[in-house]
Amino acid sequence: MNSKITQTLFVLSSILVFFSCNIADKSNHLSKQETVFDTKVDSLMELMTLEEKIGQTTMYSGSGAVTGPTVNADFRKFIKASKVGAMLNVYSAKGTRELQKLAVEETRLGIPLLFGYDVIHGFKTIFPINLGLSASWDLEDIQKSSRIAAEEASAVGIHWTFAPMVDIARDPRWGRISEGAGEDVYLASKIAKAYVHGFQGDDLSKYNTILACAKHFVGYGAAQAGRDYHTVNMSEDELRNVYLPPFKASVDAGVETFMTAFNEVNGVPASGNSFLYRDILRDEWNFKGLVVSDYTAIFEMVQHGFAKDNKDAARIAMNAGIDMDMMGSVNRLYLEELVVENKVDIAHINDACRRILLAKYKLGLFDDPYKYANEAREKEVIYKPEFLGAARHSAAISSVLLKNENNALPLTSAKTIALIGPLVKDKENILGNWGAAGDRSGKAISVYQGIQEYLQDTRILYAKGCEIEGDDESKFKDAINIAKKADMVVLVLGEDYDMSGEAASRTNIKLPGKQTKLIRQIRKAVPNKKIVLVLMNGRPLDLSEEDILADAILEAWFPGTMGGHGVADVLFGKYNPSGKLTVTFPRNVGQIPIYYNMKNTGRPIPKNNPKEDYKSNYIDVANTSLYPFGHGLSYTNFEYSDFKLSAATIGFSDMITASATITNTGDYDGHEIVQLYVHDKVGSITRPVKELKGFEKIFLKKGESKIVSFKIEVEDLKFYNSEMVFGVEPGVFDIAIKGTSDFEFEHTFTLTESNK
Ligand code: BGC
Repeated sequence: MNSKITQTLFVLSSILVFFSCNIADKSNHLSKQETVFDTKVDSLMELMTLEEKIGQTTMYSGSGAVTGPTVNADFRKFIKASKVGAMLNVYSAKGTRELQKLAVEETRLGIPLLFGYDVIHGFKTIFPINLGLSASWDLEDIQKSSRIAAEEASAVGIHWTFAPMVDIARDPRWGRISEGAGEDVYLASKIAKAYVHGFQGDDLSKYNTILACAKHFVGYGAAQAGRDYHTVNMSEDELRNVYLPPFKASVDAGVETFMTAFNEVNGVPASGNSFLYRDILRDEWNFKGLVVSDYTAIFEMVQHGFAKDNKDAARIAMNAGIDMDMMGSVNRLYLEELVVENKVDIAHINDACRRILLAKYKLGLFDDPYKYANEAREKEVIYKPEFLGAARHSAAISSVLLKNENNALPLTSAKTIALIGPLVKDKENILGNWGAAGDRSGKAISVYQGIQEYLQDTRILYAKGCEIEGDDESKFKDAINIAKKADMVVLVLGEDYDMSGEAASRTNIKLPGKQTKLIRQIRKAVPNKKIVLVLMNGRPLDLSEEDILADAILEAWFPGTMGGHGVADVLFGKYNPSGKLTVTFPRNVGQIPIYYNMKNTGRPIPKNNPKEDYKSNYIDVANTSLYPFGHGLSYTNFEYSDFKLSAATIGFSDMITASATITNTGDYDGHEIVQLYVHDKVGSITRPVKELKGFEKIFLKKGESKIVSFKIEVEDLKFYNSEMVFGVEPGVFDIAIKGTSDFEFEHTFTLTESNK
């Protein structure tokens, strides 16, 4: 930095720090440290021109892992001209250091750049995809996975991850369902907090903590017909009761940044929606951090038919409270003119710039702009054995045992085993869609390798069988041959990694290509042999035929760098599977959207007569899912008994305790995810038939029992009514403690306005 300016800045900020500390004593709004940073930002902004402030609100992409149309931006030139505040898709300690040098040494004020990147489920050490991680229901493990991701990413100069994606998703056609925590509001909100705490740690100024980003605000998961970027229309109560809570939970967890969504919400694109950003995020939730647009989402408001042209889009976004323009160039090109024309209040630009500078101060970039780009640390932390071990564990605890007829799993020794399928030896797809900087060329452990480690005396036969996609059946013959020779068959089938994630929606959610035909033919050839199906995929699939053909099905998602080991640990019973679905698996695509916490309708199907006429059903398929939310088998059995409530009636200021005894009645030790569900039977707006309100993951040795209890406060029963008032209504509530969402309630309690 120019030394004269550094000195001026230092003196100015010291004077202001002195004053502000005194002021801070009288104000309860900001912490002491925040007040100090605020003052530093004020002093710096005194020195900045309007153009430099606008520069801070502009983000460009390097060529690392581009996720959208490339906009012709000569970012090096713009950095030197103080026209860039942040970069994305640049990583490696060397790469970030080089660009940082331009910003710090070759600009008038030497303001450091922020480097952002999509560190979604790991950086180099890749963890299972987020939908998979959520199936562990293990908040500690999820937090640990994002802590490790932050350790690795921060070492290569990354300050900011565009994660977690906290969009509720109830449509498996939507490719980005793979990036979230599934369909449930309560669980997704807890998981959102775990990610934020993991990425940000407890002190952002440490060299190994990074800014988290709650995205995509909001409604992105509700895209019509599951088509990416599509229209979103929903009532405000649905928005507030279902889609907003994980974002609010992120704010409560201290998330520093938000990202806009590509979609419109009720006719107004999210990236220009002042109701969302000014009214809800800033005014209601008091969010102080920075908001970045999604990739070119600001100028896309022209295509939406909401902005006249790019300049109009810049005006709308800045007025709506979007601080930073990712890749759109519209702030750089038009904001100054818009201020002169009185179409954008300069105060908005000051606020945006202030929030961006504040983030840089919090990270400690003004003390040492290079502290995150550390070649030595990069070498030391990337793929640390301890991180790889954690990824293996996450892969095991994220797997969900969907079916296990006649205890087909765990695998016991066999003389010969046939491993068949396009994903058996795969080391590329196994990383999933957001492989970040993960190595797809051989670093990952394939399922073949994982299984091999367990089988010393068994002959392993391998055949690919077919490709993931395409019509080629020429390799079927080899596969059938080895199935005939072997004692048992393990098939590893699924999707290509880029069949889920962004811009990867499908209308057909069956296994792609000829894979179902392959398993059908193998079953025909070996009708009495054990067939185990391991799946790698980024969304709930229609597995109705596979459910009939296979003896056991293990949903492994895309399990990451150590996926093969994690999957093998489960197959051979080293880890007794405990994952439970966080999203419903439909019987077919026509049932979508299907989720456990639906409404009852005026004509629900009678339990004793599911085929009754004029009821809310289909004439060709049951209403029920193939595998429900909360479902997941274990090698042991858990029995639920002795359900108890602390009271039959409670008042508004009371709480109620529900408990049940869980007993491991099977032959293996294991973990169980115990779930608490409630149903508010009558509401001023109708309430879902079931709502998850608590869960606990417990470990029970065989034969062991444990009483699990949950406290429910009135706060837990609140919802937004049609007047958008958040409150609770007296009445009768169903309540249950179970190991799946698929059950009938048997117990109730009553909430009355008066206290006991
Ligand atoms: C995605 C975001 C991502 C951004 C930057 C966009 O296309 O929607 O989730 O963070 O690209 O890579």
